[in-house]
Amino acid sequence: HRHLLGIEGKHPWEIKALLDLADHYVEQSRSGSKKTEELRGRTIVNLFFENSTRTRTSFELAAQRLGADVINMGVSTSSVSKGETLIDTAVTLNAMHLDALVVRHGDSGAVQLLSEKVNCAVINAGDGSHEHPTQALLDALTIRRRKGHLDNLLVAICGDVLHSRVARSNIHLLNAMGARVRVIAPKTLLPTGIEELGVEAFTDMRQGLKDVDIVMMLRVQNERMTGSYIPSIREFFHFFGLDREKLALAKPDALIMHPGPMNRGVEIDSDVADDFERSVIREQVEMGVAVRMAVLDTLIRNAPNFAEGAA
Ligand code: CP
Repeated sequence: HRHLLGIEGKHPWEIKALLDLADHYVEQSRSGSKKTEELRGRTIVNLFFENSTRTRTSFELAAQRLGADVINMGVSTSSVSKGETLIDTAVTLNAMHLDALVVRHGDSGAVQLLSEKVNCAVINAGDGSHEHPTQALLDALTIRRRKGHLDNLLVAICGDVLHSRVARSNIHLLNAMGARVRVIAPKTLLPTGIEELGVEAFTDMRQGLKDVDIVMMLRVQNERMTGSYIPSIREFFHFFGLDREKLALAKPDALIMHPGPMNRGVEIDSDVADDFERSVIREQVEMGVAVRMAVLDTLIRNAPNFAEGAA
């Protein structure tokens, strides 16, 4: 367990241990003692080949709050822009004796490839349409804190499932923790064979949202749409955008989630996104820092409660 490359294959106890530790960091931050010394003297590099607001900032804050030294490398300012390869970049950074490398890349599998070339812990901050493990962990923490548990909840993941690493990581995590998962998307945005991951697939929001506990919306990933996946934004919003009317089909206390960044008026109406009685989108961001603290702490320091969970 040197790396965190994905949620697939993780045991429920590993997930629970990370969520429990993250819970501790949420309480610690809320009590005002934001900074600790757990990772003092350790070095973490954030290497992002794709843009990010939430993930990059929260990994940076998480590292700082644990007392580590952290450096952010954007691709446009690195020698990747001069043609240096992914592997040469990783090997170069590895020579600087890092403790962890947090990597986001546009290609599925790129982070795993990189992890095979370095000595330090590697954390996947999103690779293509494959996995975004810390997003699923922060989503789970948000749900668990609100609902008290994950098992037996009915969760609908809606929209651009085809391109979504967030959907894949969430499906693996929620299944592992005993929740039931539905995916809802137009046929063109549903990966073939998605049911093999243990989900129920719907192409009609009105059927798919019926009686769910959690409505998890996904961003329409325009940058990955090379074909004609959707007829028009207007039509997509009409059939698959979350608005008051469609939300009424879910349970009355259903939570509204979105990993961000949101396309308002495309996959979600501002009216429901900003309904802070039910929308936990801002809480998801808060949980992101705590979850990343837990992951960094566990992988770098081998936190005791992680090892205890194995017993
Ligand atoms: N949810 C998420 O990964 O957001 P960013 O792309 O802003 O990091």
